[in-house]
Amino acid sequence: MEKQLVLLSLAFSILFSTVVSVRGISSRVCSSENQDGKYQFNSSGIHLTLHHPLSPCSPVPLPHLPVSTRLTHDDSRVAFMEAHLSKNPSSRLASLDRSSDMVDQLVSTPLTIGDSVGIGNYITKIGLGTPATSHIMVVDTGSWLTWLQCSPCAISCHSQEGRVFNPKASNTYQNISCSASECSALESATRHPSSCSTNNVCVYQASYGDGSFSIGYLSRDTLSFAGSSFPNFIYGCGQDNEGLFGQAAGMIGLARSKLSLLYQLAPTLGYSFSYCLPSTSSAGYLSIGPYNKSQYSYTPMLSNSSNDSLYLLKFSRILVNGKLIHVSSKAYNTSIVIDSGTMISRLPSDIYSALSKAVVAAMPKTPRAPAYANFDTCFKGNVAKLRVPAVSLRFQGGATMSLPAYNVLMDVDNSTACLAFKPAKSVAILGNMQQQSFSIVYDVGASKIGFAPAACQ
Ligand SMILES: *[C@@H]1O[C@H](CO)[C@@H](O)[C@H](O)[C@H]1NC(C)=O
Ligand SMILES: *[C@@H]1O[C@H](CO)[C@@H](O)[C@H](O)[C@H]1NC(C)=O
Ligand SMILES: *[C@@H]1O[C@H](CO)[C@@H](O)[C@H](O)[C@H]1NC(C)=O
Ligand SMILES: *[C@@H]1O[C@H](CO)[C@@H](O)[C@H](O)[C@H]1NC(C)=O
Ligand SMILES: *[C@@H]1O[C@H](CO)[C@@H](O)[C@H](O)[C@H]1NC(C)=O
Ligand SMILES: *[C@@H]1O[C@H](CO)[C@@H](O)[C@H](O)[C@H]1NC(C)=O
Ligand SMILES: *[C@@H]1O[C@H](CO)[C@@H](O)[C@H](O)[C@H]1NC(C)=O
Repeated sequence: MEKQLVLLSLAFSILFSTVVSVRGISSRVCSSENQDGKYQFNSSGIHLTLHHPLSPCSPVPLPHLPVSTRLTHDDSRVAFMEAHLSKNPSSRLASLDRSSDMVDQLVSTPLTIGDSVGIGNYITKIGLGTPATSHIMVVDTGSWLTWLQCSPCAISCHSQEGRVFNPKASNTYQNISCSASECSALESATRHPSSCSTNNVCVYQASYGDGSFSIGYLSRDTLSFAGSSFPNFIYGCGQDNEGLFGQAAGMIGLARSKLSLLYQLAPTLGYSFSYCLPSTSSAGYLSIGPYNKSQYSYTPMLSNSSNDSLYLLKFSRILVNGKLIHVSSKAYNTSIVIDSGTMISRLPSDIYSALSKAVVAAMPKTPRAPAYANFDTCFKGNVAKLRVPAVSLRFQGGATMSLPAYNVLMDVDNSTACLAFKPAKSVAILGNMQQQSFSIVYDVGASKIGFAPAACQ
């Protein structure tokens, strides 16, 4: 055990959460094309199968959790993102220690380290090392580094499906030294310095919106997807991995940051990726590289100087049953983070109240139900049986998401469905509940984000 690691891990003893999207689990059997671990490499890039964290088709399906628990974890992720965006990033560690509400949430979160819960992001598989071994990974647009648990798990590894990656068994594994440029890139990605182990290996720290973290050695090895491989891929070899990663081995970071998977593969594949986040009853995909440009409607990809690794966009208007909701055009002039790991979208509060009113007005015959957790717009009934109004989100530049009923209302129990949006505290977010079933392309090279409907179920 190395002392630095212990100290770092203490500094990161913060809250937890899981962020899980909710749709009724279907009894539909996973079809063969939905099986995990199918990846392809062709002239249109790399294609990985994505699974909803609750899907029975996932290689690591999560156990049942009450909706209220998932919502609590979703709030924790959002609180952490707010902290990143609103505070001076260079004082992030200190600011986390001081944040009393986060400590409170740690105490009240009814989950313990190692629980098989998972942080609720979508799941895929990668190959690593020579000879390649297969690992189940969580995919996150809010993360800047790819890491996985590594033997000997010097401090802690959570339980995972499949063998823990063993660097000693890979002929191509290398430690990154503290003086390497990749080690300095860590600092610019996290804006707090990397540390150095006693024998001069660069030590990374990755922490998440839900308080989970991984700390270990920055490493280099061959990443592989079916027929193709990418040598010298930089990732974290985790020696202290604590939190709610489900049974996954680690995390794929897709943020706009030098060390993310996207930026490392971009010289070969191009600076773009697309995904379709599936419901629990289907499978979706993550594609890296070229995409079919005519398929999408686009909005500009914006930047925020407080955190330039997040993906941002702006609404232009929102319609309910074809009618504009009542909100000033100024209210739309707010950057929204598009995030794969936040479940429920957080709308600027003016927009949220106008949307809630318009949805209520569009469902005059449906009896209201009491508020559920922080959802204040609830109805008696289930999404499958209710006449859910058409909600259309328009973005600057004309991109449109016409939301299917399951992306508008969410079944919170057997007889209650609630509007699946919340008012934002400080950071507005387009969450995965609303993204489900759309193909969404992040074209970082061309600074635009595109949407196409009905790409997966
Ligand atoms: C590449 O593979 C994907 C996923 O199977 C497929 O949808 C796409 O059509 C393929 N592209 C080409 C050019 O073969
Ligand atoms: C930006 O936000 C993401 C997601 O909250 C976080 O992982 C990352 O560390 C942040 N970066 C900085 C420089 O604060
Ligand atoms: C990498 O560094 C760790 C920590 O110092 C060490 O235990 C391990 O043997 C090193 N691996 C290689 C391949 O150099
Ligand atoms: C690209 O998308 C357009 C519009 O959906 C479609 O007509 C076309 O066939 C697609 N091209 C390829 C190569 O898939
Ligand atoms: C939107 O807000 C920015 C500042 O955040 C301002 O510079 C810009 O003029 C505003 N645009 C409109 C159309 O109000
Ligand atoms: C909801 O339905 C499930 C199965 O249909 C049943 O097991 C459960 O008891 C029901 N819960 C409530 C609160 O009625
Ligand atoms: C960056 O995000 C913060 C927090 O949401 C916000 O206050 C600030 O106005 C944003 N800056 C820009 C340039 O959008």
